[in-house]
Amino acid sequence: MAKLIIEGGHRLSGQVTVHGAKNGALPLMAAAMLIGEPVQLLNCPRLSDVEHMGRLLKGLGCLVQWQGDTLCIDAGGASSLALPKSSAGAIRSSAFLLGPLLGRFGAAEVPYPGGCNIGDRPLDLHLKGLKALGIRVEEGSGCIRCYGRPKGGVEISLEYPSVGATENLIMAACGAEADTVLVNPAREPEVDDLMVFLNAAGFALRREGSSRIRIRGGGKGRGLLHRVLPDRIEAGTFLTAAAITGGKVLVRGARGEHMSALLQTLREAGCRIRTTAEGVELTGPERPKEIRFSTMPYPGFPTDMQSQVFALCTLAKGTSLVEETVFENRFAPAAELRRMGADCRIRGRTALIRGVKALRGAEVTARDLRGGAALVLAGLAAQGITEVYNAQVLSRGYENLAAALKGLGASIRKEDQSP
Ligand code: UD1
Repeated sequence: MAKLIIEGGHRLSGQVTVHGAKNGALPLMAAAMLIGEPVQLLNCPRLSDVEHMGRLLKGLGCLVQWQGDTLCIDAGGASSLALPKSSAGAIRSSAFLLGPLLGRFGAAEVPYPGGCNIGDRPLDLHLKGLKALGIRVEEGSGCIRCYGRPKGGVEISLEYPSVGATENLIMAACGAEADTVLVNPAREPEVDDLMVFLNAAGFALRREGSSRIRIRGGGKGRGLLHRVLPDRIEAGTFLTAAAITGGKVLVRGARGEHMSALLQTLREAGCRIRTTAEGVELTGPERPKEIRFSTMPYPGFPTDMQSQVFALCTLAKGTSLVEETVFENRFAPAAELRRMGADCRIRGRTALIRGVKALRGAEVTARDLRGGAALVLAGLAAQGITEVYNAQVLSRGYENLAAALKGLGASIRKEDQSP
């Protein structure tokens, strides 16, 4: 257990380099299972979710090792098709292993996966899609058991463009006998990166317009080297940290084109933003303006940035309105922000935030990854000392966040939290 101790009131300034994307690396790691030859993931972030996925792969008989920031995975010797029940609890991405295991071996068993406590995260779309591919699915005793080689030869229409379901079904369909078309797939950049990876590995996938992905069946993968795309959520968190402290930060390696909805919202809040080949630079306002935004699937405003921008709204001049349409529990940090003097009311999926002139430091608890990041940002701007308890959840999605913020001029340190 760890806590972060932050002395607020320091404007952030300088440069920071974005890491590889958590949500990019996890499906690529799962895809290594489908390929079954050595895969090297360059620029892979060292996050607890990534380490956990590595342990899951090892448990299935893969070789997994780090060489600097490159993660090498060889699933050639994978021998087990079942994940032990104890292993999958911590991250939801264990469900990603269903598709690759089925695509390669025609059988898979995973325990019901865990993840952040941010609402109901069912797997119905994953399982419906697998059934449409010709897989027999059995659920019971905390496990999902799947049997049969994916047949393909179908069009699968997703009722909602779920990121995980799209990635899982893409990987299963790569191992199918015939072509598969996914209708209404997720459009997140991490899905495209997975497609680039799988195409480079020898499979054949392409987008047909924005609402269909065609996956050729009968393919076989070969080993490859791939660079994980930059983390748009980590980059967005640094930019919002600059915004909330009225600072100026260049996030090197950030890809502005992956962050359009967020950057537009930050501009509406009064930030000046420059997007160049080098990265994205933000200059924060003296005080943010009131804003309105709704989270949406990509290219809409990302739910993974809602909490951080919520924190920014607590200091805005005027009343902001935030609608969360993706995960119902994502307003959990509001209660902690109130302890810091924020004035916010939650009604179902909508939050009304009356901006206050200043937040004050307090003892708060990070309950989920992005909510925890929001509390850190609030602490950076607050008067006095903020202590963020349970801060180890941040290492699920941020590599050395405290060190990076310190490098930008924040006064922040990590301490062990006594139980
Ligand atoms: C991924 C990201 C997560 C991000 C989310 C939305 C990874 C590892 N995680 O999560 O950081 O917040 O996308 O951008 O990439 N749903 C169903 N049935 C299903 C699947 C999903 O109803 O079978 C619902 C969920 O409850 C949720 C919505 O669809 O309301 C979005 O979920 P989804 O896009 O699947 O998110 P994840 O892939 O879990």
